[in-house]
Amino acid sequence: MKAVRVSDRGAARWTRGHPWIFRSDLLDEVAEPGVVPVTDPRGRFLGQALASPRSEIRLRLLERSDAPIDRAWWRTQLRAALARREGIDANAYRVAHGEGDALPSLVVDRYDRWVVAQLLSAGLETMRDDIVAALSEVLTPAGILLRNDVPVRKQEGLAEEVVLAAGTVPDAIEVREGAVRYLAAPWDGQKTGAFLDQREHRMLAAELVRPGGTALDCFAYHGSFALHMATRTGRVAALDASRDALARGTENAVLNGIDNIDWVEGDAFEALREWERAGRRFDMVVVDPPAFAKHRGALGQALRGYGEINLRAMRILAPGGVLLSASCSYHLHRPEFLKMLANAAADSGRRMTLERVLGQAVDHPEVITIPETGYLKGAVLRAD
Ligand SMILES: C[S@@+](CC[C@H](N)C(=O)[O-])C[C@H]1O[C@@H](n2cnc3c(N)ncnc32)[C@H](O)[C@@H]1O
Repeated sequence: MKAVRVSDRGAARWTRGHPWIFRSDLLDEVAEPGVVPVTDPRGRFLGQALASPRSEIRLRLLERSDAPIDRAWWRTQLRAALARREGIDANAYRVAHGEGDALPSLVVDRYDRWVVAQLLSAGLETMRDDIVAALSEVLTPAGILLRNDVPVRKQEGLAEEVVLAAGTVPDAIEVREGAVRYLAAPWDGQKTGAFLDQREHRMLAAELVRPGGTALDCFAYHGSFALHMATRTGRVAALDASRDALARGTENAVLNGIDNIDWVEGDAFEALREWERAGRRFDMVVVDPPAFAKHRGALGQALRGYGEINLRAMRILAPGGVLLSASCSYHLHRPEFLKMLANAAADSGRRMTLERVLGQAVDHPEVITIPETGYLKGAVLRAD
């Protein structure tokens, strides 16, 4: 393909460690999706990029050399990404975290013998066959599902679809995470079938519970935090607004022979208010809500939501109780998240000690020069 020239400002973004070049920094228009050589305004070669003619993000840096981007190239990259995951105590984890693994707009999750991937840009979509072939060779899965039903694809001019790309993929996949087994839902579950990004925090929650005590998994989804905590504490309440999610949670408990979880359908804001009034207390509370801030403009309202739910959680902690609080809103950055927790603590009347600040796991690498690779943040606080 013909080289695309970018402005000095665009070139500087690559030099400074960010792989995106926006439309406003192109000196030549991108004619069609694919992989293109990119040069500075004077024609000096900068690298090869995925090109997206319809997106504001027109170029995504893929390769700094002029090596061919073919099936062998994808195989090498995926092998390197897989090697970075060695030692993970689970058979369900992320193999490629897009820009975080220098594989822009590509998400690959492994669920035991199956692979669920997302191709999130028009340039990447043109490489679909090579990527699927490379995934088959590197991971030798029983099936590959493309969960391309993601709204961001619309901005790229791509269809939102779920496509079986190789083999067969069952409706539910039993996976292992540390001491716990759970069912992932590759075809219709949230994200690619499970919230893999909280794996390390779930295992941490199991370490933090009080043996013989009580715990609450607030916004439980399929009960993954609850299952881990139930292996080490007395009684766990798993609260979620979705009946279907809780039904899957119940199945997961049976799978593990766990019978000390109470599944509670309800609104977390109301339930916590009620329990506080009724004097119900927990030794450990996990708060893992959905992203309240879907866009920057919603941040003010989202902060009120996060503040309210964390305040309630702090108030229902037993003396010495532990709160593990998380936010997956990209727009809520770590400093504001911690400030929100400080304000909630001040309003709660409890003295809360910050024991840990949490980030993303090794399989969701957050590159510090690419803020978009980081979205999950959390904290562990202990009440007096
Ligand atoms: C980010 S997910 C939780 C993921 C889960 N902790 C895990 O590790 O797999 C958010 C969950 O919050 C639930 N939810 C959303 N709004 C809620 C509300 N107001 N009250 C209770 N649950 C809610 C959704 O049904 C969804 O299951």
